[in-house]
Amino acid sequence: MTTENSEKDTVAFVVEAGIAWVSFNRPEKRNAMSPALNRRMMEVLDELEFRADVGVLVLSGEGTAWSAGMDLKEYFRETEAHGLQGTRKAQRESYGWWRRLRWYQKPTIAMVNGWCFGGGYGPLFACDLAFAADEAKFGLSEINWGILPGGGAAKVATELTSFRNAMYHALTGENIDGRKAAEWGFVNESLPLAQLKVRVTDVANILLQKNPVALKATKDAIRRVREMPYDNAEDYLVRAQEAANSYDNEGRKEGIKQFIDDKTYKPGLGAYDK
Ligand code: ACO
Repeated sequence: MTTENSEKDTVAFVVEAGIAWVSFNRPEKRNAMSPALNRRMMEVLDELEFRADVGVLVLSGEGTAWSAGMDLKEYFRETEAHGLQGTRKAQRESYGWWRRLRWYQKPTIAMVNGWCFGGGYGPLFACDLAFAADEAKFGLSEINWGILPGGGAAKVATELTSFRNAMYHALTGENIDGRKAAEWGFVNESLPLAQLKVRVTDVANILLQKNPVALKATKDAIRRVREMPYDNAEDYLVRAQEAANSYDNEGRKEGIKQFIDDKTYKPGLGAYDK
């Protein structure tokens, strides 16, 4: 295909049996993240986040790539042509949806079916769980074309694997396959591409059986406490648990119902009947 897909087509999604299957959809460009794709992904995340029929979101890629990182032409060259303003706008659009995904309401799974480079490490880390094909290839290729692993990529590497692995990976630009990515902690597991979707579906179905309030509280807790000293983490977890309890509390709805529907009390004059 020689013509660029329209912005809307840069991301594909379908919801089936509680799972939102979202995919980077520029296979002819190895799913490189262009500004158009970044804007569209934010819209899709918006659309799916609070839908009652979505319990888990899976992020994958069409074709042979998960994502070949940032689009060197459209994300770098063409935005730089608009000066610092253009660069900052493009960064906001990409970092914005990665951040949104890190704190997404629903649990998220990266299903890494193929190439995963550079900027792709942002959404990789943003997903709560990650499964890769043995055949997938991961690389911090920035060093190969003359920049440092920016856009969070260096941070993601050091968050997920050891100092020595991260340094070697970033300085040499050597790729690793899915199995090595699992060994290094980039992903939970690696398995043959032909089995990848079945395994991810199984994991998604495990999550779909859990209490959604507990899932959100748990995923946030795991991310937050990593950066806290023990006592702060302990305190955060006490409060997070209490907040989750109250979020699940049906009493507030009952209080509204007894006033608006049943007309059995007036909140200005006293409490509802528990
Ligand atoms: N940015 C822009 N265009 C890209 C990118 C990218 N990151 N990756 C692939 N493409 C384009 C190619 O230019 C080519 O376009 P064309 O058909 O108009 O010539 C098309 O996608 C197909 O790419 P090929 O290289 O022909 O595909 P192949 O399967 O042989 O190789 C591979 C795949 C290894 C992923 C290769 O495309 C590649 O090295 N891409 C760049 C990877 C990279 O370094 N990404 C940047 C990381 S750093 C960062 O994200 C900040």
